[in-house]
Amino acid sequence: MEMLVQQSSLKNEILRLKKEKDVVILAHNYQIPDVQDVADFTGDSLGLSRQASKVSQKTILFCGVHFMAETAAIICPEKKVLIPDLQAGCSLSDSITIDELRNWKRQHPKAITVGYVNTTAEIKSELDYCCTSANAVNIVNTIPADKEILFLPDMFLGSYVAKVTGRKNMFIWAGECHVHAGIRPEDITNKLDSMKDAEFLIHPECSCTTPILYDLESGSFPNRKVTVLSTEGMLNHVNNSTSKNFVVATETGILYKMKQQNPDKTFIPASEKAECQYMKMITLEKVYDALVQEKYQVIVPKEIADKARLSIERMLSVV
Ligand code: 13P
Ligand code: SF4
Repeated sequence: MEMLVQQSSLKNEILRLKKEKDVVILAHNYQIPDVQDVADFTGDSLGLSRQASKVSQKTILFCGVHFMAETAAIICPEKKVLIPDLQAGCSLSDSITIDELRNWKRQHPKAITVGYVNTTAEIKSELDYCCTSANAVNIVNTIPADKEILFLPDMFLGSYVAKVTGRKNMFIWAGECHVHAGIRPEDITNKLDSMKDAEFLIHPECSCTTPILYDLESGSFPNRKVTVLSTEGMLNHVNNSTSKNFVVATETGILYKMKQQNPDKTFIPASEKAECQYMKMITLEKVYDALVQEKYQVIVPKEIADKARLSIERMLSVV
């Protein structure tokens, strides 16, 4: 009880401070419920980047992981971008280094590089196109068919995009997100068996995405609606669907908003273990400290930001 009172007065204090200091709080869909509650906007990586460029406040407090705050800093060089914990990283973004990328590009000098938004600013500065899970297929479809593509760093998103677009000249980096890669096919089968009438929503970073598409084609999921979507795509989908039950294969933080917006529907995670410890590093206490002490500022050097912005702008012009 005492804990609840403390959390609620902390929330009130955060709401007061963000107004007083003219700060906007952006929170990713995987953030803990308390942090989502104090945010002005919640969303997926693409939606939050777009939001960052539209807000009037001079300071953005980004509740998400480091590459997301960097993306906001690249898009809005005139704003101050803060993150409550600098250690909030991402295993996927760590799966390629700048030297590895430069080496790869040297081996394919004519290829077009398409990189997921889950990459560092330095990696983005070497890309032709940036993409997110929501628009990767559209981005690849705009690239002339005879051009080789280097797709990085997520191998599961990459093979999903290659399958959907039918692209044969796409080289895919062997990176992965440990959370989505850890959702095992048997987790999914068990959950689907326990909810026969549930729709199945799957994030393209999951290791089982492409095998499931093949299973679908071979008729392994009779009478089952299966959809591959980004986090925001999932939220929009459940809000508009007439189905009552859903099995959701992504980080479990997304279930909070799904349940809040659809109290009459049932959502179960494909795996309860699918928790991103980096996303969960952002706590209410750290959000409060970040506001009081105006820390930790995420700064992207201008020469890197200017180059990285081109790949992000190219992405935003496609969709
Ligand atoms: P979204 O772009 O769907 O928000 O995904 C970001 C992410 O980190 C997934 O793990
Ligand atoms: Fe990175 Fe995976 Fe966490 Fe998303 S869920 S932030 S891809 S480690």
